[in-house]
Amino acid sequence: MIKVAAFNGSPRKNGNTAILLQTVLDTLRKQEIETAFIQAGGERVSGCRACYQCRKNRDGRCSITDDPVNEWIGLMRDSQGILLGSPTYFADITPEMKALIDRAGFVSRMNDHFLRRKAGAAVVSVRRAGAIHAFDTINHFFTISQMIVPGSTYWNLGIGRNIGDVREDEEGLATMTALGENMAWLLNKLHGG
Ligand SMILES: Cc1cc2nc3c(=O)[nH]c(=O)nc-3n(C[C@H](O)[C@H](O)[C@H](O)COP(=O)(O)O)c2cc1C
Repeated sequence: MIKVAAFNGSPRKNGNTAILLQTVLDTLRKQEIETAFIQAGGERVSGCRACYQCRKNRDGRCSITDDPVNEWIGLMRDSQGILLGSPTYFADITPEMKALIDRAGFVSRMNDHFLRRKAGAAVVSVRRAGAIHAFDTINHFFTISQMIVPGSTYWNLGIGRNIGDVREDEEGLATMTALGENMAWLLNKLHGG
């Protein structure tokens, strides 16, 4: 079965980013795609330590083993689609999401580019400004990893400040639904029978 793993980079477990990601996942499930949701924000994760052990070992793992990032990298490897969600923090992504990107990106490059040709989409929540920069940060990771990026009817962002505010952003939610439809279409083209 085709699988999409969604990573929520917000420390707010049921916050706006989670709501946006779940909207995409609901659409994917309607198209018979298996989904997984990972709460990454709020976990104690290290940034890349530039030890280059991943290049030496080439075992598909990061040498830092005291946090959940290797588990998340494994899930990325087992999925055909990856959704990375982050709130906008000072016009960029959260540190947890950046740690995941840096470490998964390096491990993939050192291990036959295993992210190559997976589908990837960014999802960003924002109160007011900076979402495009955060969106671009995530897309830089996808494109240098040779991933395929489906689009939507707008850039994939939802507007809100307090938990649940994005539910009022009709256009944001419609953007997530269209993204889910396009990602499902792409994945079925790539992996469907
Ligand atoms: C540390 C911090 C920095 C933030 N920086 C920005 C920002 O640069 N631009 C903005 O519009 N909102 C900013 N916000 C607001 C959040 O992006 C917004 O509340 C978002 O909906 C939170 O998503 P969440 O509920 O998934 O955590 C910031 C919030 C925090 C806690």
